Amino acid sequence: MSLQHIAIIMDGNGRWATRRKRPRTFGHQAGTKSVKAVIKACVKQGVPNLTLFAFSSENWLRPEKEVNRLMELFMRSLNKETPELLSQGVKQNFIGDLSRFSSKLQNKMHEVSQLNPAELKLQLNIAVNYGGKWDIVNAAKKLANDIKHEVLNSESIDESLFNGYLSLGQLPAVDLLIRTGGEHRISNFLLWQIAYAELFFTDVLWPDFGAQQLSDIIDEFNQRERRFGKTSEQINA
Ligand code: IPE
Ligand code: IPE
Ligand code: MG
Repeated sequence: MSLQHIAIIMDGNGRWATRRKRPRTFGHQAGTKSVKAVIKACVKQGVPNLTLFAFSSENWLRPEKEVNRLMELFMRSLNKETPELLSQGVKQNFIGDLSRFSSKLQNKMHEVSQLNPAELKLQLNIAVNYGGKWDIVNAAKKLANDIKHEVLNSESIDESLFNGYLSLGQLPAVDLLIRTGGEHRISNFLLWQIAYAELFFTDVLWPDFGAQQLSDIIDEFNQRERRFGKTSEQINA
């Protein structure tokens, strides 16, 4: 099956800047170029879904100045990049607990998520104040509420139904999860949705990541045999 969904943990901005003796926020700014390059590359390669981890539910613990700068950069990118993304065929969607953001940012995210390109080429999900555990608990809460109001019966709960309550809804599962920046962990990003994803960890820091690195990883992904529990002989029969 072809590559339907890529998810990326965009890590390493701070170290990239520190190596250049610049403030960490300089790295975040540099990272926005990689975001643009990767989106463009996905459109070009015909990957229909891309989910980017931009800000975790734990990232509020960072110094206030850094958090503020990240919020500024986020707002600025939404304003600046949205028209071009639309012209490239990109639809933007935001996942996470958005209620913690300023009303200005919440309004902007809402406004941007209402815009549709003339021809949809890429569904881009931006994870902000997102946590994989939050997503699952939130789905369970919504489900419990629907049972309480008799919208559904607990007997009808299965994986597919539960999946629909998660923030990526009925989008295809993640095929390929990439983490830049050298750490080998998930950091509470998508949990349920990566159940059978191929995992790629690269030491490249996010601001140094671009179309070439993505294309190399996709080539490697295409060499992997995804068996989903079967034997190699069955897959190749
Ligand atoms: C990822 O880069 C960006 C965010 C988490 C917002 P980091 O800021 O975590 O960079 P490092 O890991 O400190 O280098
Ligand atoms: C994960 O990176 C979050 C994002 C990339 C947005 P972190 O840098 O926050 O992860 P930890 O803290 O090293 O696990
Ligand atoms: Mg980090």
